[in-house]
Amino acid sequence: MPEKEPIGVIGVGWVGLVTAACFAELGHEVHARDIVEDKVASLSHGEVPIHEPELPELVTKNAERLHFTTDMDELLENAELLFCCVDTPPTYSGDADLSRVDAVIESLGDSNEHALVMKSTVPVGTGRSIKRRRDGLAYVANPEFLKEGSAVRDFMKPDRVVVGADDDSEEFAQRVQALYEPLGAELVRTDVASAEMIKLASNAFLATKISFINEIANVSEELGADVEEVARGMGLDERIGPKFLQAGVGYGGSCFPKDVQALKQLAGNSGYHFQLLTAVVEVNELQKRRTISKLQKHLGSLVGKEIALLGVAFKPNTDDVREATSLVLAGRLHGEGANVRVYDPVAAERARAILGDARICDSALDAVNGADAVVLVTEWSEFEDLDWGGEVKRRMRTPLVVDGRNFLDREVLQAAGFTYEGVGR
Ligand code: UGA
Repeated sequence: MPEKEPIGVIGVGWVGLVTAACFAELGHEVHARDIVEDKVASLSHGEVPIHEPELPELVTKNAERLHFTTDMDELLENAELLFCCVDTPPTYSGDADLSRVDAVIESLGDSNEHALVMKSTVPVGTGRSIKRRRDGLAYVANPEFLKEGSAVRDFMKPDRVVVGADDDSEEFAQRVQALYEPLGAELVRTDVASAEMIKLASNAFLATKISFINEIANVSEELGADVEEVARGMGLDERIGPKFLQAGVGYGGSCFPKDVQALKQLAGNSGYHFQLLTAVVEVNELQKRRTISKLQKHLGSLVGKEIALLGVAFKPNTDDVREATSLVLAGRLHGEGANVRVYDPVAAERARAILGDARICDSALDAVNGADAVVLVTEWSEFEDLDWGGEVKRRMRTPLVVDGRNFLDREVLQAAGFTYEGVGR
């Protein structure tokens, strides 16, 4: 075996591409396979189809070690550790759709020289069920904890690496472990089911933390406390920690909404009613809509009002719009009879079909032109740099800002004559 183990990556979506590029950066030959020919073709020319900081540079830098293909045999010939990175979207029932994972297993044939290393987020019990169906296949659970917008950094400096394998796959588990050794992270070596649960429980806990602080924010609005101060004071307690205590217009994205639902469903399937997660989901849904009443408080009826949404992506530094709060808000505003215009530095086009009647603008200034209110939905740094007191205020019909992320400088805006509504303050 060469000094650096070659690896295979199956599914070159967001997780797969980051995984492939980062392992190549660590010196491995990486054979990455996707079924979408156009994507493979453009990646082979160094074109990265998603917006993720540092990723295009990494793909270009490691082009010689990155081999993109549509051919599964190329992976089977060149690598023994095959990282499964296909997506597992939610089904109507709230369970995860595992059809793409099943297709991957089909495509492995009956080889027993390979190990399937599962990075896709799967329900607890998936590893066991795959092994039952596919006798002799080595299986390692290796969940990912990357955040969109900082995925490359998260991969290279992980808080922990989780490797789950049962006794029959021990040798392969050690080889997976070895891949991560240069990163110097804490290793959690465990069984497959526990590794699967670590992934779902981590996302569910972070979502719970967000819904919790959003409820504290809502109560603070009623009682005159400032949630930013409350979060600061709470976060200094080491047992609580300062992260994921940012109150706002709710969490979105391809992970929290799906994984919270999947864990709730999974518990339900086994007869357990996971009450806490039911509340976490409900709080988040209501949180996405609270902005409407804040607008009505100042504008009265929203019929015919011009509302500018700044930010469409579910968070900054990504063009991902899945489960984004902007989409719910645009729909609700439209329902109230308002005219909606949106601006996002990278994500608006992706959402064009879902945004319905909303007008997509080329710049933030274009979006605020003649607006009765601005709602800051995504905290892109360029929104902080806008000339709020000058150009923005001049262009708006009414100087009203609903800052859905407590991102802007409240004092500066108020001093400039804006009516400012934050979250929980
Ligand atoms: C999340 C997890 O943080 C990753 O560890 C995990 O690997 C990933 O899901 C996944 O399962 O693939 P991601 O969805 O990229 O990552 O984004 P986050 O940074 O976690 O943000 C999720 C949502 O929560 C965003 O809408 C964000 O605006 C919101 N959020 C986050 C808050 O409202 N408040 C906070 O304090 C933090």
